[in-house]
Amino acid sequence: MSVNSISILTLLLVVTISAEDIQLVTTELGKDVSLHCTNRTWSEIMFETWKIRNTIGAECQIAVRFDQTDANSTCEDRITIQNTSENRPFLHVSHFNNADEGIYTCQSAYNGGMGKVQFNVSIIDNGTQPPAESGSRLVAILLAILAFIIIILITSFFFKRILLVVLRSCCNSAIPATISSNKQECEEFEPYEIYVEKMNYIYS
Ligand SMILES: *[C@@H]1O[C@H](CO)[C@@H](O)[C@H](O)[C@H]1NC(C)=O
Ligand SMILES: *[C@@H]1O[C@H](CO)[C@@H](O)[C@H](O)[C@H]1NC(C)=O
Ligand SMILES: *[C@@H]1O[C@H](CO)[C@@H](O)[C@H](O)[C@H]1NC(C)=O
Ligand SMILES: *[C@@H]1O[C@H](CO)[C@@H](O)[C@H](O)[C@H]1NC(C)=O
Ligand SMILES: *[C@@H]1O[C@H](CO)[C@@H](O)[C@H](O)[C@H]1NC(C)=O
Repeated sequence: MSVNSISILTLLLVVTISAEDIQLVTTELGKDVSLHCTNRTWSEIMFETWKIRNTIGAECQIAVRFDQTDANSTCEDRITIQNTSENRPFLHVSHFNNADEGIYTCQSAYNGGMGKVQFNVSIIDNGTQPPAESGSRLVAILLAILAFIIIILITSFFFKRILLVVLRSCCNSAIPATISSNKQECEEFEPYEIYVEKMNYIYS
C-alpha cells in the first residue's frame, strides 16, 4: 500500500467518524451571520471549504488555502471567508436574506486530520422567539407553577375576605343597629364586640 492510499484511507475514516449532526443557527432578516468551522488557526489549517445549498437547491462553494490570499468562490460577494484577530478563519454572510437560508457544510483540513461541520441556517421572525432549550423550558415550567400557586393564594385570600365581609354584614344586621353602621368602625370595634358577645354568653 502506498503512502498516498493510506492517507486517503485515514482521511475517509476521519470524515466518516466526524460526520456530525447539523447545528441549527437562526438569524434575523438582514443581519450578518458568522459561522465557525474550527477553532484552529491558520498555523495548523491547510484549507477550508464551504459548500452552501439553499432551500431551493441552488449551490455555491467558497474555499481558501493557507498559501493563497484570494478565496476560490462561486458564491455572491456578500459571502466571504474572513480571519479573526487570532487568525482563525470563519464564514461571513452579510445582510442575510431568504435566499441564503439552507445547509452550510464546511470542511477544514489541518495537520493530522479533517473536520466537517454542518449548519442549518434559517431566518426567524423578529417577534417569535427561537425554540426554548430544555434548561429554559424547565425554568418556564417552574415559573408557571410558582405563578399558579401565587394566584391560588391571592384568590383564596380575597375569597376569605369576601366571605368575612358577607358574614359580618349578615351578623351586623342581626346585631342591634346602635353598635355601628360604618364598616371601618365595625372593624375597629370587632374585638370589643367579640368580648361583649363572650361576656353575654357567660352571664346569660
Ligand atoms: C478547540 O476546542 C476544543 C474543544 O472544543 C479544545 O479542546 C481545543 O483545545 C481547542 N483548540 C484550540 C486551538 O483552541
Ligand atoms: C487569513 O489569514 C491567512 C493566513 O494568515 C491568509 O493567507 C489569508 O489571506 C487571510 N484571509 C483574509 C480574508 O484576510
Ligand atoms: C476553484 O474551484 C473550482 C471548482 O471547485 C476548481 O475547479 C478550481 O480548480 C479551483 N481553482 C483553484 C485555483 O483552486
Ligand atoms: C433546517 O431547519 C429548518 C427549520 O428549523 C427545518 O424546517 C429544515 O427541515 C431543516 N433542514 C434540514 C436539512 O435539517
Ligand atoms: C426587528 O426589531 C428591531 C428592534 O428590536 C427593529 O429595529 C427592527 O426594525 C425589526 N425588524 C423587523 C424586520 O421587524
